[in-house]
Amino acid sequence: MRQPFKKSQIDVFESLNVTGKAIKQGVLLTTRWNNRVNSMTISWGQVGIEWNRPVFTAFVRGSRYTYEMLLHHGEFTVNIPSGGNVEKILNFCGTRSGRDTDKIRELGLTLVEGEKVSVPGIAELPITLECKVIYRQMQDPKAIPHHILEEFYPQHRSGDPSMTGRDIHTMFYGEMVNSYLIENGK
Ligand SMILES: Cc1cc2nc3c(=O)[nH]c(=O)nc-3n(C[C@H](O)[C@H](O)[C@H](O)COP(=O)(O)O)c2cc1C
Repeated sequence: MRQPFKKSQIDVFESLNVTGKAIKQGVLLTTRWNNRVNSMTISWGQVGIEWNRPVFTAFVRGSRYTYEMLLHHGEFTVNIPSGGNVEKILNFCGTRSGRDTDKIRELGLTLVEGEKVSVPGIAELPITLECKVIYRQMQDPKAIPHHILEEFYPQHRSGDPSMTGRDIHTMFYGEMVNSYLIENGK
C-alpha cells in the first residue's frame, strides 16, 4: 500500500453532479477483511442524509463476496473516477468475484491507506468516500412491485420458497466519515 498520497478534502454534497453521474456509469465499492482487499463495481447507490448523518447507501446482492466481506467488517470505501478511462477496471471488477480472483493484484491497482477507516482508497479512481456501516437491511420481496421483482429477481416467479430472498439486495448504509480526492494518482 502506497503512502503518503496528497489528499484534498471534498464536500460530497457540493460535488453531487460529479458523484451522481459517476454512480450511474459505475464506481467501485472496496472492502477489507481478513487481510484481503476486494473491489466490486456498483451502479446502484445513493448519496443522502438520515439521522442527520451523510450516508452512502449501497445495494448489494447476497451472492456477492462483497456482501460477505461487509458482514465481517462494516467499513467500505467508494472509489469514483475523475476523468481517465476506467472501463477495463469497472468491467473486470463487475464480472469477477473476489472469492477466486485477487482483482486488485490482477489489475495492478494502487491502494492508498484510508484515514478514518481501515479500508484503502484507489489512486486510479481517486474520489474517495470513506464509509462506516451504521445500518443494513435486506429488501423485502413482498414490498417490491411485481414487475420489478420479475425483472430483477426472476426466481420469485416460481414462488419457490426455498429461493426466497436468496439473491435479494441488502441495503448497506455507510456513514460517510471522510471524503477526499487522492492526488498524484496514475
Ligand atoms: C456496471 C455494473 C454495475 C453493477 N452494480 C451492482 C450493484 O449495484 N450491486 C450489486 O450487488 N452488484 C452489482 N454489479 C455486479 C457485481 O459487480 C459483480 O457481481 C461482481 O463480480 C461482484 O464481485 P464480488 O463477488 O467480488 O463482490 C454490477 C456490475 C456491473 C458491471
